[in-house]
Order: sequence, then structure tokens, then C-alpha cells
Amino acid sequence: YEPKIAPYTTADKNSFGWPTGRERWPIIITQAIDDVFRTVSKCDDDSEKQQEGKAIVAEISKLKYEVQHDRQLTPIRDDGHPDVAVYNSELEVMGNPTWLNVPWLYAECYLFRRINTYFSLSTHWKGYDMFARQKISTFRSSRPAVLELAGRYRDLVQQLHANKDRHVDEETEKSLFMEMCEICLWGNATDLSLLTNLTYEDIQKLQGSEARKASEKNILINDLEAAFDVLIKAKKENKKERRVDIVLDNAGFELYVDLILSGYLLQAGLATRVVLHPKSIPWFVSDVLPSDFAALLNAVAQPRKFYETPSEDETAQDTTPKPLEDQEVDELSFLFQEWSTFHMEGQLMMRPNRFWTQAGSFWRLPKLEPELFEDLKTSELVIFKGDLNYRKLTADRQWDPTTPFVEAIGPMGPGSGVNVLALRTCKADVVVGLKPGQDEKLRQEQGGNPDARKWAWSGKWAVVSFSSGA
Ligand code: F6P
Ligand code: MG
Repeated sequence: YEPKIAPYTTADKNSFGWPTGRERWPIIITQAIDDVFRTVSKCDDDSEKQQEGKAIVAEISKLKYEVQHDRQLTPIRDDGHPDVAVYNSELEVMGNPTWLNVPWLYAECYLFRRINTYFSLSTHWKGYDMFARQKISTFRSSRPAVLELAGRYRDLVQQLHANKDRHVDEETEKSLFMEMCEICLWGNATDLSLLTNLTYEDIQKLQGSEARKASEKNILINDLEAAFDVLIKAKKENKKERRVDIVLDNAGFELYVDLILSGYLLQAGLATRVVLHPKSIPWFVSDVLPSDFAALLNAVAQPRKFYETPSEDETAQDTTPKPLEDQEVDELSFLFQEWSTFHMEGQLMMRPNRFWTQAGSFWRLPKLEPELFEDLKTSELVIFKGDLNYRKLTADRQWDPTTPFVEAIGPMGPGSGVNVLALRTCKADVVVGLKPGQDEKLRQEQGGNPDARKWAWSGKWAVVSFSSGA
């Protein structure tokens, strides 16, 4: 159930798949090796675990060799999960391709799934996340933005409460919704420059809206109004259960802004429940696992411990982090209260599904995972975060960039019953829904090889596309 259009591959010199196979993957694999090695060196007291860890390092190193020497992708070992058979039969259908001449999307998913089996088939390393260190240290380094947003979130919630019985005009509500979504969008680029105003008063000021407008020029398509209309309509109809789903992308700062958005939707009455969809195995380096959600809550619950205890690197460099102000601690505690209350009351929940770590595109979702599909249909809005989810929605095919989004997402489009909103900063080749000539203009501006869509590789540009399931 995939479109009949060629996929992007690692053999195409004009695709970002080319440097991905030759440069990015070896680096990612090396990072994994380094991390496991670091943990191995710390388990002197458990020689069985240490031996097994060394064997895992050897296996990952062998995989790196295979990638770099363009060897065939070999069948994934069965670790008891049914997705292995799906991966392997697809590999066979493709005729056992080699690393540097293979559909990019499939191969990158395969890479993470295969690495996972080294751990899942072990005795002492099951569930080990070789990217956890990276995720938490990146989150720690986004401290200024985290603190600033925590303060603004508390102000916002206090204002929402103060305004509860007052009539707030819909335009203001819409602007606020758009601003929150745009913060959530740029959290995907881990671009912190969009942390503009969040208060009712401020967004009405010219300056506030101007600041947002400035970042808006990099959003090539912005369907947020259509998404807002869906939520406000359901609210006006007084529907009792109004759910928003977020198919998560990265842990750390992005998850933090996803939770800020979730809290805002619940507080503003635009949703009565938010369901978050994490990954089940370490995925594309920084994607959210349920354990990352727990780690984030822990950090926010004990901000002093999190920010003031020196990290491994800080200890090595003999530096001490700056202590937090009391007000900053209060603001983070407020967030923790909010999130844990929502979580306890079932208004904010995680719902993992192994479908999200399969290799296929979301064109397969209705047929391959009917239960999940039915579940998503009961949601008012399903927000897909990030680049990879967008590539999976559009099956990572070489669409003409003016193809309507609703067409490029196939069975997830109109008639599916699922309202889809993609919040994506562009980090790969595929893009749809552009105006005629827009891609050509951006290619000219990017300079260099006009046959490659390099402008879309860096996360500088974004697309926010909506498809009504009606
Ligand atoms: O373009 C590089 C890349 O790692 C892609 O392989 C992948 O689609 C994407 O970035 C991951 O980004 P995100 O976390 O936004 O999905
Ligand atoms: Mg990601």
C-alpha cells in the first residue's frame, strides 16, 4: 500500500540520502559504540554484563563496517517481535540491496531496528538506550529556554484562569493557539529563537505579533487556522470527550514543548485529553521513549538536583553549574504539578505502539494496524511531529513539490476519518503542497547544485500541513 512513485535512495547523488549513508550513519553508529563502551567500562562489578557489553560493541562495529563497505543488508534476527518478519520480507522483495543503494527511509529504520536486536537478544542489556546520555545532556543545555518557557507557561495559565468567566474573542484565542503550535514546531528544529510572547496582552501588541511574523516567513505552508477551526468547533459543540493526539518525535526540549502545548490545550479547553505516542525502541537517535518522558518529569520535579549536580563532563572539566533562582524552581514545580495532575487524572497519557518503529510509510497504517487506525479516528486532531513522521506520511517519495498534501498522504487523507496536522521542519528531500515555482526559487537561493533540494535539508524551513479526514 505505497504510492507508485520512486523513493529517495542512498544511491542518488542529489538526495540527502547520499551523504546520510556515507557520512551520517557511520557517525551515528560510532556514537552508539562509544556510549556502550562507556557503560561497559563502568561495570567492573558485573563481569557477565561487561562481557556481553563487549560483544555488543563488536556487533555494532561489524555493522558499521558493513555500511561503510556497502555490504548487503542481511535479515534481522528474530527477537520475538512480529515486526522482524515484516522487515525481512520487505528486504527480500527488494532483492537484498546494499547499504549505499537502497531506499533511504527503509534502510534508516532497518538500521535502528537491527541495532536494537543486539540489546533485545541479550541478557543484561535489554531495554538499554544508547542515546539516553546524549538526549539528557542536550536537554540540560537548553536550560535558558526551558526556564523562560516555564515562566511564561505559568503566566499563561494564571491568565486563562483569570479570564475563565470573561469572554475572550476568538481571534485572540486563535493567535495564542498558533503561537503555541509554532513554538512546538520550532522545538523540532531545536531552534530556540521563536520563544516569543505567550500572554494574552502581549500577543495583542504589535511587537509580539511582529516577532511571530518574522519566524513565520520560514513556514512555507501554514494550515494552523484550519486545525484551530476543528478544535474550536468541537469545543462549541460541547463535545464531552475531545482528544488531541501527538505522534511524538524527539525527546528533551522538543518533548518539553510538546508537553507545554498539551498543557495549554487542556487548560484552554481546546482538548479534554491528550494522547502521546512515543517509540518503543531507541530510534533516529533522539526520539522519545517512555523512559524519556519519565526522565523529563524527574528533571522538572527536582530541578535543583537536575541542573545543579555536575554532569559527567562537568565533573571531568571541574566546572560547576550555576544555581537556580527560587523563582525558577517555583515555575518548574508549577509545570511538574500541572503535568503530573493531568497524567494522574488520565488527561495526559502515553500510548506506545510498535507500528511507529516499522519501516513502512503511514500509507500502510489503515491496513497494517487497523486497531491503531480506529483509535486515531476517535481523536479530533492527530499532530505528527517532525521530519521523519512527515517522510512517513508522504512515503518519502519523489513527489512533484506542488502535489497537494492531502493527495501525498494517500489513505491517511480525506475520507480516512483522521484529521492530520503535520508540524515539520524540513530535514530531508520530500516536500509537497508548495506553490508553483516556490521550490525552484528556493533552489536558486540555496546556490550550488540546482538538481538537489538542499534548502530542505537544514531545518531552516518548515511546513505545517493539515488534512481533514472528512
Ligand atoms: O535528515 C536527517 C534525519 O536524521 C532524517 O534521517 C530523519 O528523517 C530526520 O532527520 C529526523 O528528524 P526528526 O527528528 O525531525 O524526525
Ligand atoms: Mg527524531
